[in-house]
Amino acid sequence: MRMRKKKNLAPRMGRCSAVWVREPLAHRGHWRTLFDRSGALHVELGCGKGRFTAETALEHPDTLFLAIERVPDAMVVAMERVCAMGLTNVRFLSCDAARLPELFAPGEVDRIYINFCDPWPTKRHAKRRLTHHNFLQLYRQVLAEGAQIHFKTDNTPLFAFSLEEFPSCGFALSEVSHNLHENGPQGIMTDYEAKFYELGTPIHRCVATMVDWEAPEDTDETAPELPAEAT
Ligand SMILES: C[S@@+](CC[C@H](N)C(=O)[O-])C[C@H]1O[C@@H](n2cnc3c(N)ncnc32)[C@H](O)[C@@H]1O
Repeated sequence: MRMRKKKNLAPRMGRCSAVWVREPLAHRGHWRTLFDRSGALHVELGCGKGRFTAETALEHPDTLFLAIERVPDAMVVAMERVCAMGLTNVRFLSCDAARLPELFAPGEVDRIYINFCDPWPTKRHAKRRLTHHNFLQLYRQVLAEGAQIHFKTDNTPLFAFSLEEFPSCGFALSEVSHNLHENGPQGIMTDYEAKFYELGTPIHRCVATMVDWEAPEDTDETAPELPAEAT
């Protein structure tokens, strides 16, 4: 879904300078210095308006959160939310997930969250899915040994696709659920998830843990395909 352009985007972004990282590539390998403290580094890809980011960061004050979102009109809402809550353990980067290895040194990230990413339903666009094996191989470059990807979606075909992609790239699956909230709300919901929950749409979730793995020689090495509007 395309986001409507926000009025006064630039001044609104400017008022969030405490949490907005304008030059994210400069922090590669030193993200913890930016927070001025140690702690696990968790990255959320496509944070949207930031409900999950903000509530998770509030619940885990010792964890450092970096929320990546390529659409500034969505990210500004998330930043305003986090600023209003006075959280000091979250920063935002306006960037594409395909640039992860430029943003993080090998092993720098302890966890990746992918929540309700765009499903890109046609085969032609499969490489744009954030759980496509080309993306998973990028994540491997920045994740610490034994680190996890936490994935949620309402999209059944995307979930089925992802359950095949994760093991094909050396991620062991656990906590696989096809109806996460079957017995009442579980964990912190994203903005999208809260809407789907109200509608009674089942939510799929899994955890993918990185294990030792060698890329097969015939692996498709092409970089993830970026949509035309990606920066
Ligand atoms: C369907 S929305 C879900 C937003 C939020 N995670 C939620 O569950 O409420 C997907 C979000 O991911 C962002 N996104 C999609 N592909 C991305 C990419 N390659 N890099 C960064 N953000 C991306 C979109 O701009 C959009 O805000």
